[in-house]
Amino acid sequence: MAEGNSPPDRSPRPTTNRYVALEGIDGAGKTRLVKELARLLAEDGQEVEIVREPGGTAVGEGLRKVLLDGSSVSPWAEAYLFAAARAQLVDEVVRPALRKGAWVLSDRSVYSSLAYQGAGRGLGIEEVKRINQPGLEGTWPALVILLDLDPRTGLIRQAQPDRIGSMGTSFLAAVAEGYRHLARQEPHRFVEIDAGHPLEEVISSAWQSIRAVQK
Ligand code: TYD
Repeated sequence: MAEGNSPPDRSPRPTTNRYVALEGIDGAGKTRLVKELARLLAEDGQEVEIVREPGGTAVGEGLRKVLLDGSSVSPWAEAYLFAAARAQLVDEVVRPALRKGAWVLSDRSVYSSLAYQGAGRGLGIEEVKRINQPGLEGTWPALVILLDLDPRTGLIRQAQPDRIGSMGTSFLAAVAEGYRHLARQEPHRFVEIDAGHPLEEVISSAWQSIRAVQK
């Protein structure tokens, strides 16, 4: 039997070590964690830029409305629109911030597209990676902090699920499996944290992983 059918990892190597992505299924607590980590970095005298995907630019906020509030969007249109919003954000905000030496804490990243569109929608992780690579031009997160959460708990925790977050447990379970697959494929880049643990522990583990990048 052939050993798995995952192609080798050809994602671009990070051009900087200060681009950090927070990932996980809806309701995992990324947004709160981003704020706490930004506070810790600022206390440490570091410059920090917080971004969220989709969004963060005029183009991206427009696409965010189409993607999250609107009625149905076909799976490939969805994947291209997320990639478009991301290309704009990386060009306008992420790359300039990294160039001036700031940390970029990103509430979601290209890895959301790989997990949600690639695995969740079933478009294929490699295929979705391929449509994202040109727009990123090698600007790829150095560290992905993945908050692990049971999809049922994620659904309960969401106050107002958006169009994608309200897809249901089996969709979110496929997304969660996609994330686990990516973490296994790229262990040098991923740190997995149990989002069911008390917040203080989650913050402390995430902070340690950022400190490790800093060294
Ligand atoms: P968001 O406001 O970030 O919510 P959450 O607090 O759950 O992170 O919502 C973004 C939604 O869009 C979320 O359901 C995940 C989804 N998404 C994708 O499907 N693909 C992507 O590439 C990105 C960035 C987000």
